[in-house]
Amino acid sequence: MTVVIYCSRTGSTKKYAETFAKNMGYECFSVYDKNIPDDQFIYFGWLNGPRVSGFNNVDRSKLLAVGAVSLSKIPSFGWNKVKDQNKITVPIYPLLGWIDRSKLNIGQKIFFVFLCAFMKMRGLDDVTGPQFDAMMNGGSFYDESGLEDIYTFCRSR
Ligand SMILES: Cc1cc2nc3c(=O)[nH]c(=O)nc-3n(C[C@H](O)[C@H](O)[C@H](O)COP(=O)(O)O)c2cc1C
Repeated sequence: MTVVIYCSRTGSTKKYAETFAKNMGYECFSVYDKNIPDDQFIYFGWLNGPRVSGFNNVDRSKLLAVGAVSLSKIPSFGWNKVKDQNKITVPIYPLLGWIDRSKLNIGQKIFFVFLCAFMKMRGLDDVTGPQFDAMMNGGSFYDESGLEDIYTFCRSR
């Protein structure tokens, strides 16, 4: 049996995890659920800097793949840093999420103000411009076509 485990703060990762689980016929659990079966699993988490959220709560020995939700297909620090920092040795698939500013706490809002100031200083382009807008005003890059590679991975096993 394979299950899906996810960690989501504002809902985009949850939506990917639930859509993926439904289409694959897998059960889906929040990483904070009490009764997660001891099965192999696909993990969906959002990027908080290079850290994959909630990932410290899972037993990686049964991890098959990771769907990492962020605002960019290639984060500024690179996927290798994400893999190293989270000790991920299985395939990792980028997915684009959203920012719901109403669910951010004050520390996170301040974090985005500093990050946006830094991004603006470096100069905005076609990729970082929409990210800047999403961080300042909220916005979504959610796109379920990003799940295709994970479907392929699971079906070919
Ligand atoms: C504190 C914080 C740090 C974040 N760091 C990054 C980051 O380093 N790179 C990135 O692309 N997105 C970053 N994000 C954006 C989230 O990964 C993105 O909003 C994601 O869709 C949130 O998933 P959720 O809707 O499941 O909570 C950050 C968001 C927060 C709140």
